[in-house]
Parts: sequence; structure tokens; C-alpha cells
Amino acid sequence: MSYRAILVEEGTPPRARVTSVEGPRLTPPDPVRIEVSHSSVNYKDAVALTGGPGILRSLPMVPGIDAVGTLAEDSGTMSASTPVLVNGAGLGERTDGGLAESVLATADAVLPVPDGMSARDAAAIGTAGFTAALAALALQRHGVEPGDGEVLVTGSGGGVGSFAVSLLAALGYSVVASTGRISERGPALTELGATEVVDRATLGTAGSRCRAHDGRPWSTRWAASASPMLSPRPATAESSPPAGWPAAPPSLPRCCPSSSAR
Ligand SMILES: NC(=O)c1ccc[n+]([C@@H]2O[C@H](COP(=O)([O-])OP(=O)(O)OC[C@H]3O[C@@H](n4cnc5c(N)ncnc54)[C@H](OP(=O)(O)O)[C@@H]3O)[C@@H](O)[C@H]2O)c1
Repeated sequence: MSYRAILVEEGTPPRARVTSVEGPRLTPPDPVRIEVSHSSVNYKDAVALTGGPGILRSLPMVPGIDAVGTLAEDSGTMSASTPVLVNGAGLGERTDGGLAESVLATADAVLPVPDGMSARDAAAIGTAGFTAALAALALQRHGVEPGDGEVLVTGSGGGVGSFAVSLLAALGYSVVASTGRISERGPALTELGATEVVDRATLGTAGSRCRAHDGRPWSTRWAASASPMLSPRPATAESSPPAGWPAAPPSLPRCCPSSSAR
């Protein structure tokens, strides 16, 4: 079959163009075909589309780590034409991705689009929203309740951080959003549900113990830190780590922003 796609091809640097491709190509295990209606441009896709290294494991390849559309055929309990989404699962990295009219994804990774959610919204949430949801779930799993105190979200002006602010606020947490772009992103972060927006420069620096902007040590203020910027652990609860968490390495600060882990 042939379909339209953005294809990144060999070159110095590799180049992307819209073209017609012949499938199936780069087939994942246990594949199911999705007729794609929407995708997104994640950071990884931007790297791939601009010829950057490390994302597309072979060339030529179609980038796009997210895809939303309808099933082209029955799969498991889902019938053909079911609205579905897939985030990650090797799309746009090891096999052709979602920036195409059609994509093959491993059946296990394909989920139904929730009732009431448009394909456009599902694509806009994408892997960044999915990642923020994992952070919110981690807080819940480790017993941090909305009434426990404020939750600090660092990197909140970015993709994952802004979804984290929105999700946590919707779950009833009191969210303090830290950003280096207060004037640019502050109003939007408040609209997303942040109760306070703080300048990241006031939180301390990498390697130092994190302090609130009023100078108090973070541990007397934050119930938790949902930090897309720093990931020795995805969430840090106040006091000792909950049962099951590995102890934080002694050389690492518990919640301070650091340079991007990307
Ligand atoms: N996007 C995804 O799907 C995904 C999935 C898994 C993991 N991740 C990881 O999650 C992290 C955030 O990804 P993202 O897509 O949200 O990136 P992003 O949109 O580029 O946002 C990153 C944010 O980090 C803040 N930041 C940048 N430099 C900083 C510094 N020197 N000190 C403190 N904060 C700094 C900025 O926040 P302000 O604008 O508020 O200043 C920036 O907006 C990355 O480490 C990424 O690898 C992302």
C-alpha cells in the first residue's frame, strides 16, 4: 500500500520531506495498522525532523512518536474503526512513526481513545501528557494526598511541566509552578490551575539544598516535587521516602532543579 508521510532520509544532515511511501516498512512485533488522523510534534520529533542524531535508529524512517486515528482491522477486543491512540512504543524511533497517514504499531501498545475525547485532543496530550500523568500517578501511589501541602512542579513552562500543573490541579492538589519565564508563561500557568508561580532562580541551584522563595527550606513547604527536570526519582515526598522507594543517593539534592536530563 502507498500513503503520504514525512520521511527523513540519509544526508548530511539527514533531510525530511513529505512524500509517498510504500508500506509495510520497518514492521514492529505483533503489528496492527492505524489509519492516522492526528499526531503531534514532540521534542524528539523536532530533533528527528531537523536531522539531529539519536532518535531515528535507521534511515529512511518516518518520525512521530505519537499517533491517533482508527484501527484499520480488528485487534484483540477492539474492532476495526475503533478510535485509538499510541504513545511511544518505538514509533518514530525504531519503526515508522505517526507523522503519516498510516502506521503500524504493536497491538499491546494501542489504546482506545477515551470516550468524549477528540482525536485532536488525544494527539495534543501525546507522550508529554502521558509522562506528566505518570508523575501524578506516582504521587498518588506513594500516598501524597491533595491536603498534604503544596506540590512544586519545576520546568512548568515546558511540555511535561505544563501538563503536570494542569493534571495535578485538576486532581485537587495545590500546585506551585516554577518557571524561568514568569512574564511569558505565568498567566497561562495560573490558567492551568497553579495557585502560585515562582521564578526558578529563587529555588536554589543544582547541587544546593532547595529553598522556597521566602528562604524556608523546601521540606517545610512542599509536600512533593513533581519534577520533569530532575529524575533520580520521579516524585519526592516530604520526610523519609515511602516504603519501596530506593533511598536518594546522598550526593543528590532532593528537589532542586538541575540542567535538563535530556
Ligand atoms: N516531552 C516528553 O514526551 C518527555 C517524555 C519523557 C521524559 N521527558 C523529559 O522531561 C523533561 C522535560 O521535557 P519537556 O518535553 O517538557 O521539555 P521542554 O518543553 O523543553 O521543557 C523543559 C523546561 O525545563 C525548564 N528549564 C530549561 N532549562 C532549565 C534549567 N537550566 N534549569 C531549570 N529549568 C530549566 C524550562 O522551564 P520554564 O520554561 O518553565 O523555565 C523548560 O521549559 C526532559 O528532561 C525530557 O527529557 C520528556
